[in-house]
Amino acid sequence: MEEVNNLHATTPAEAEQLRIRFLSKKGEIAALMNDFRSVPAELKREVGQRVNELKNLATERINQLKAEAAVAETTTSHIDLTRTAYPIQIGTRHPLTIVKNEIVDIFSRLGFTLAEGPEVEDDWHVYSSMNFADDHPARDMQDTFFVEAHPDIILRSHTSSVQARVMERQQPPIRVICPGRVYRNEAISARAHCFFHQVEGLYVDEKVSFKDLKQVLLLFAQEMFGSETKIRLRPSYFPFTEPSAEMDVSCTICGGKGCSMCKGEGWLEILGCGMVDPAVLEANGIDSTRYSGYAFGMGIERIANLKYQVKDLRMFSENDVRFLREFTAAN
Ligand code: PHE
Repeated sequence: MEEVNNLHATTPAEAEQLRIRFLSKKGEIAALMNDFRSVPAELKREVGQRVNELKNLATERINQLKAEAAVAETTTSHIDLTRTAYPIQIGTRHPLTIVKNEIVDIFSRLGFTLAEGPEVEDDWHVYSSMNFADDHPARDMQDTFFVEAHPDIILRSHTSSVQARVMERQQPPIRVICPGRVYRNEAISARAHCFFHQVEGLYVDEKVSFKDLKQVLLLFAQEMFGSETKIRLRPSYFPFTEPSAEMDVSCTICGGKGCSMCKGEGWLEILGCGMVDPAVLEANGIDSTRYSGYAFGMGIERIANLKYQVKDLRMFSENDVRFLREFTAAN
């Protein structure tokens, strides 16, 4: 019995070895218990008591050794309890989220409120209410993803659908900004993807003019790219605006002198805009004799590229953490 006290272990593994040797089902004490049958009847009582006592003592001693070894291991070896905690690695915002927030912030300061809508849409909100003729090429399978070959349910190809949803609910004054993901059936490459992100804006009120549009876009460009930034509007065409324009900003790299970024032009195209076509106002229940409006739309990837010079669009959706960690946002 005293020998139990001579058992020693310096590591938890050694203590476990002792437990297996003495206390497990096939251990030495179990073996003694198995031999119990062959003990003469008159000794059974005493032998039984002694074996039980031995088992209790051994259990107690081995548990004690285990506990001591565990404490010794944590205090002596590789774990330094006085060390400061590991810093928690916090994530970073996605560059597209950073740029989206920045765009939304600028327009919020100009009085625009946020409006969002579904990515799976119907033809009416994406196309018909936006004055796309039935045979307009943008409705073609080339551009539009259909949901389960249903001709009416589609993935929105621009967030103008959110403008339609706002106009059908609300009478002017309307001043909204609509950020969101849009889908177009394009082959994926460094320069195109089957989805991207947009921010579109809409302002409808009495006496809204092209001057208002131009002034707001100039303020936006200067907030986004710096106070020296100039803008240029070129005539263009969209089914839902008349007149329509495309807007360029002076090159964010060379300031307009001409460089490889702007291909020597000095200008970079960043958005489409125009005065809301009266037919769009009428289709959405707004009296076009009383109200007028402007709209504009830009790709967030495009703006992010100008800010960060990301060469390959696919980087934005591959979620390579080495890329994502390069971006940190204040908000
Ligand atoms: N909806 C257009 C597009 O997706 C952008 C746009 C919006 C143009 C509003 C003019 C006015 O390309």
